[in-house]
Amino acid sequence: MGTKKLIKQKAETQSEVWELGDVFRKKWLYKDEEWLTEHYQMLKGLCSVGYLKGIGFGDGEMWLDTYKIQGKLANTFEYTPEFIEKIFNFCLEHYYTKTKPYAHFDWDLSNMIINGDDISLVDWDNCRIYPEGQVFDKMESDLKKPFVGSDLEFIANNRLKELGENYNIKPNQWITNT
Ligand SMILES: Nc1ncnc2c1ncn2[C@@H]1O[C@H](COP(=O)(O)OP(=O)(O)O)[C@@H](O)[C@H]1O
Ligand SMILES: [Mg+2]
Repeated sequence: MGTKKLIKQKAETQSEVWELGDVFRKKWLYKDEEWLTEHYQMLKGLCSVGYLKGIGFGDGEMWLDTYKIQGKLANTFEYTPEFIEKIFNFCLEHYYTKTKPYAHFDWDLSNMIINGDDISLVDWDNCRIYPEGQVFDKMESDLKKPFVGSDLEFIANNRLKELGENYNIKPNQWITNT
């Protein structure tokens, strides 16, 4: 194998991310075969073709390999009202049309890769079935976070609620209902 680069380490989750050529490896420094096997089965039903590569287990460790998604991380784009619209629409539509009752549940801009009009999600570690109310709350707090304290905060707060109405989410179902 050619290049092998440690991209990220997280103490809280005892995990590392390695870039191995055209593959990204999420590695956990503990082993839970039952969880990862079931998690992977679930992801096969949810993720786009060409993303998942496989899982593996070693002595006190386990990993999940994904193929590199081409594009740029969403957090490297200029934040504009159009950007907000695009991301928010994507997350709502993705949940309602692709994953529900499962939810990706980590809608951080560092987990979204943009390639022209396409947006893809990486980092499915928190994906499982969640009650819908919990999905709205988490999506709202994740999606508003990058804009808190900026000129776009007001737009972000309102736009999510307006777009949610297209999916019959009533304004008072979000965390902040003012
Ligand atoms: N399949 C992939 N294609 C492209 N980039 C990826 C892929 N998987 C991970 N990455 C990159 O690695 C970073 C960390 O991976 P991620 O799964 O989000 O780990 P963490 O749980 O530490 O946030 C991502 O923000 C992204 O930049
Ligand atoms: Mg991530």
